[in-house]
Amino acid sequence: MARRDESIFLRTLSGETLPVPPIWMMRQAGRYLPEYRELRARAGSFLDLCYNPEMGAEVTLQPIRRFGFDAAILFSDILVVPHALGQKLWFVEGEGPRLEPVADQARLSEIHEQADEAVLAPVIETVRRVKAALPRETAFIGFCGAPWTVATYMVAGRGSPGQEPAKALFARDPALFQAIIDRIVTASIDYLNAQISAGVDVVQIFDSWAGSLGPDDFKRWCIAPTKRIVDGVRAVHPHARIIGFARGAGELIPSYVEATGVDAAGLESEIDRDFARDAIQTLVPVQGNLDPLVLRAGGPELEREVAAIKAAFGGKPYIFNLGHGILPDTPIAHVERLLAAVRS
Ligand code: CP3
Repeated sequence: MARRDESIFLRTLSGETLPVPPIWMMRQAGRYLPEYRELRARAGSFLDLCYNPEMGAEVTLQPIRRFGFDAAILFSDILVVPHALGQKLWFVEGEGPRLEPVADQARLSEIHEQADEAVLAPVIETVRRVKAALPRETAFIGFCGAPWTVATYMVAGRGSPGQEPAKALFARDPALFQAIIDRIVTASIDYLNAQISAGVDVVQIFDSWAGSLGPDDFKRWCIAPTKRIVDGVRAVHPHARIIGFARGAGELIPSYVEATGVDAAGLESEIDRDFARDAIQTLVPVQGNLDPLVLRAGGPELEREVAAIKAAFGGKPYIFNLGHGILPDTPIAHVERLLAAVRS
């Protein structure tokens, strides 16, 4: 698979240690960019933007043009999967996503067994357009949410502190919760396979709320469904490259990497760097770790943290990134400083 002329991002994923690491940022297409805010205002709602291939492609490319990141990430959202499964979804301005909660058998029966391809077709068209426009040296990342994280929104109908509604449901009715997870698994496999067929080079599975589960629940609700997605994608695309981001899973990440077979692991900001280097980076390339708050603050602390991350992870393959998405009020000058510091 690995070709000589591949991007530095893909070379790193394939196990090369480069003197200057590749860099991209989670949520790099977003509200901190004036050109995003301008297009977003013209699109109407956030979902209209996600389902408009012309605008979605443009938004995906904006941070590449402005900063020359080494990878572009498809502009979409993890919640288009429940939407395609038939769940009502909308975004409240300044707050976040809302869904009609699925927390009993009656509501589950309204959820399809498989995603409606017509709902996701515009996102796949966005992939084709971005692929055609991207420079060769820029890798292209597709994504989906991990079943646990997506289920927390499907069950609560919104973001939920501590993910308590989802935890309450699997405690009360594990079979019902498993049925929700199973539908997300099936839909996510098809969705990722369609993204890969349309041109993404790699996919990332975002498990943003992995850190709220103890070891047994983590095995059952994070590792097992993620492994099914990895296997389902590789059954169709045997060489598919997959990044797993079990955010907050900390010391459980090595077992997650080994059990799921992901090619690389995302690191949250809070992880112990020595542990990550010795117990995770010895298994697979790692990605992430810079605290979005440090990027927003800028100044000497930003320079210090970049140097510390390079020192910790520079001896083996790593991809520079944040430990979570960039904050909307991050100054653009700080992103420019970050790129200069990483590439110096
Ligand atoms: O640039 C990129 O990273 C690509 C696009 C992307 C978005 N969401 C766009 C978005 C990606 C990869 C996501 C993933 C996503 N979406 C996750 C997992 C990663 C994470 O951040 O933990 C989650 C949990 C969601 C669900 C979601 N979408 C929430 C909770 C919110 C509201 C919070 C917020 O940041 O506004 C969204 C909205 C959203 N998704 C926006 C963007 C650019 C902001 C919407 C706007 O423009 O008004």
